[in-house]
Amino acid sequence: MPMLRVENLGKRYQVSRLPHRNTMTLRDTIVDTAKSIIKRKSKMRSEEFWALNGVSFTIRQGERVGIIGRNGAGKSTLLKILSRITEPTRGRVELWGRVASLLEVGTGFHPELTGRENIYLNGAILGMSRSEIARKFDEIVEFAEVERFLDTPVKRYSSGMYVRLAFAVAAHLEPEILIVDEVLAVGDVQFQKKCLNKMEDVGKEGRTVLFVSHNMETIRTLCDRGIVLESGCVVFDGEVQPAIEAYSANSYQLISQIPLIERRDRTGSGRVKVSSFRVLDTAGREAETLKSGLDYDFEFGYVNDSGKSLDNVIVSFAVLDDQGQTILLLRTNFTDSNVVLSSDSGFVRCRLNNLPLANGTYRIPIYFAYRESEVLDYIQDAVSIVVEGGDFFGTGQIGLPKKCKILTKAEWRSL
Ligand SMILES: Nc1ncnc2c1ncn2[C@@H]1O[C@H](COP(=O)(O)OP(=O)(O)O)[C@@H](O)[C@H]1O
Ligand SMILES: [Mg+2]
Repeated sequence: MPMLRVENLGKRYQVSRLPHRNTMTLRDTIVDTAKSIIKRKSKMRSEEFWALNGVSFTIRQGERVGIIGRNGAGKSTLLKILSRITEPTRGRVELWGRVASLLEVGTGFHPELTGRENIYLNGAILGMSRSEIARKFDEIVEFAEVERFLDTPVKRYSSGMYVRLAFAVAAHLEPEILIVDEVLAVGDVQFQKKCLNKMEDVGKEGRTVLFVSHNMETIRTLCDRGIVLESGCVVFDGEVQPAIEAYSANSYQLISQIPLIERRDRTGSGRVKVSSFRVLDTAGREAETLKSGLDYDFEFGYVNDSGKSLDNVIVSFAVLDDQGQTILLLRTNFTDSNVVLSSDSGFVRCRLNNLPLANGTYRIPIYFAYRESEVLDYIQDAVSIVVEGGDFFGTGQIGLPKKCKILTKAEWRSL
């Protein structure tokens, strides 16, 4: 029995953006700033883009579906449309059941109302009678652990409390379709486990669950179907394991489709050129997924056209976050590593232990120089990598990847 069907769903956003800074040189920036002083207004460009495009699928009763995809793939947009928080630009949604959803903090609850009032409000929205809600009330409060704050407006709640209550409401009000975005990640680990168990129960009761997470372990245990989104399109829809593999297959990729050796957007003498990039796990296999806290070899292939072996070559790569900020810089001469290039071609590997990057997508420029005097090759937008969380702290916490990209373990004491 179908519970939910979407057909050719599309969502267009209008965005005004400044020219893309990441790819600009300092000189471009200066020129641009000068220009903008001259004609400030015209600098803001208004563009349309499709956050979702041509998305179709049918979900049957009792299916537990994991929606996976990189940041910006359109997952939250899809869940918002299914929850009727936002309208699709195109296509249609058919629902054969009541939907309860836990989306980003700020949706679903009325900030001025108390916890108690919000529970009733949400129940009413789901079409439940007052007595039905009253029957569920204690269970919700107990699950959310918010007894003491029941009569406090939810705008005074900490984000953890807010999410606990929001989840408890969504999961206990017996929706036929439960939709949960990755907001759960803000709760503490114990509570996350409790939520996952609850979602499993909801699934076992034959209700339908749609769930977004970056944690593939969670997706694997909780879901029996996976839909992979990429740039607003469904690129895989089927069993969970192959879905995870489809998502993970391109854990790192060339930013351009053109092989590194053929790229023209490079500078340097060209006597040596970067020809390939791979990430390997400690067993020397090409890594399928990158996880915070694990050890990897970053491998750079090169072609040497100088006709002789070169020593004291400086190999360097940086890691840029999605804002274009350089957050890590690795360079052979920082560690006095004397890299010798063979006279024709070869590889340079850089071991990165305990990968300190949080969940997210990063861009990697690659740079080769001969001693300090000659830039051999530099590709600014060479590759991008995706880091998928992982258990850096050994506690299941992934940090706050939206706020902070570098992870380090610290020891806390109170004195
Ligand atoms: N209200 C909005 N206005 C303009 N662009 C938006 C808005 N909401 C989301 N987007 C953009 O739509 C794309 C998809 O976003 P989202 O659905 O949040 O992706 P995901 O949840 O997969 O990370 C992103 O590029 C995002 O920046
Ligand atoms: Mg999202």
